[in-house]
Amino acid sequence: MGLSYARVALVVLMSSTVLAVSSAFPSPRAGDQWPAFNQTALPPLGAMGRWPSFNHTAKGSRKIVVGGADKWRIGFNYTEWACKNGPFFQNDVLVFKYEAPTKAAPIAHSVYLLPTRKSFLNCDLKKAKVLANTKQGAGDGFEYTLKSCKKPYYFACGESKGIHCGPGLMKFAVFPFFKRLH
Ligand SMILES: *[C@@H]1O[C@H](CO)[C@@H](O)[C@H](O)[C@H]1NC(C)=O
Ligand SMILES: *[C@@H]1O[C@H](CO)[C@@H](O)[C@H](O)[C@H]1NC(C)=O
Ligand SMILES: *[C@@H]1O[C@H](CO)[C@@H](O)[C@H](O)[C@H]1NC(C)=O
Repeated sequence: MGLSYARVALVVLMSSTVLAVSSAFPSPRAGDQWPAFNQTALPPLGAMGRWPSFNHTAKGSRKIVVGGADKWRIGFNYTEWACKNGPFFQNDVLVFKYEAPTKAAPIAHSVYLLPTRKSFLNCDLKKAKVLANTKQGAGDGFEYTLKSCKKPYYFACGESKGIHCGPGLMKFAVFPFFKRLH
């Protein structure tokens, strides 16, 4: 994501350079060596390189499935996932996907919001807010919008008295960036 960001910045920089250059030159006449700059021939930005997911001008929000194909489960490193899939932006929607426990698959998950960095580091669930119970991750998953860009969000699984959060690695923090709405 960081890489594609740099590329976006580069593309924007390059296209603005091209525009600046084209307006600085006299318009090409027929027969000139310099080919006319045909703006409609340029591919749309989204089609260039790897910029599939983030649309700066989109008013709508991105939906990001936490853990990707691994969904919300024990033993997947969500800190690393968040690191690789960031940055996150204000109004991005995180989707937590996990099945409700059954007799055959009794391991339950949930989504808690921890109040402080300290409680996050210690997987202390005492003052946590329950965002989604053990059933809400089924189907299309539980959606949570990152509304604020003024504070970090500390997410964790609240099951098994913090064992999923600690040794199970089911926790991550995100600090959304401000997203300008045009
Ligand atoms: C500019 O490119 C578009 C798309 O390829 C083409 O349809 C159009 O004829 C071109 N215009 C000029 C002036 O070459
Ligand atoms: C970005 O979002 C805007 C507004 O929703 C839309 O008009 C535009 O086509 C989108 N651009 C890309 C590259 O998807
Ligand atoms: C999870 O990933 C983070 C970031 O890459 C790393 O610092 C940490 O050691 C990893 N945890 C485990 C248990 O592998």
